[in-house]
Amino acid sequence: MLSMRGKLFATVFLVFFIAGYSWAAEVTYEKDIKKIITEKCISCHGSDAPTMDEFKKDKEGFTKKMKGPKMDTYKNLMVFVNGDDAGALMRRLDDGKSAKDGKPGNMHQYLGATDAEKAKNLETFKKWVGSWNLKKKPDITPDEAKAIKAPEK
Ligand code: HEC
Repeated sequence: MLSMRGKLFATVFLVFFIAGYSWAAEVTYEKDIKKIITEKCISCHGSDAPTMDEFKKDKEGFTKKMKGPKMDTYKNLMVFVNGDDAGALMRRLDDGKSAKDGKPGNMHQYLGATDAEKAKNLETFKKWVGSWNLKKKPDITPDEAKAIKAPEK
């Protein structure tokens, strides 16, 4: 049997363990996502890339130059998560498992150099978004929109 002190230590340990675990499990833009974007996406979606409006006017021209719309800040990235182009990030990064046709999104390839790295980074994006759904903006229900977390900090 544990003594009073033993029980107290066990309780304190458990509380810190659980608190530490949930803290570590929370994925944020600042802590986790920014790093992946900087490493894997910014060469084509950086501050020198077009804004979404500029991009829309000349998709073909920018695509030829390997420039996609700007994703250099939290605000610019959120356009593709729950903004004007909601769901685009999920559709483009998916590995095909959530897609009806089973095909990966065309940006999935950039998630990593190996399949393991791609899977790991996709998992981080999934945890961050909170609700991984490939629908286009008009088809997203209010409840589904609310389920998108994607915290900045
Ligand atoms: C080699 C250049 C390149 C890299 C690296 C790259 N992208 Fe792209 N991306 C593009 C281009 C060009 C387009 C526009 C053409 C298209 O839609 O496929 C695009 C389009 C997109 C779109 C769709 C935007 C829209 O019009 O709705 C998303 C979302 C996206 N990229 C996310 C990412 C993410 C996240 C990464 C990093 C994991 C990434 N991309 C890495 C070049 C790149």
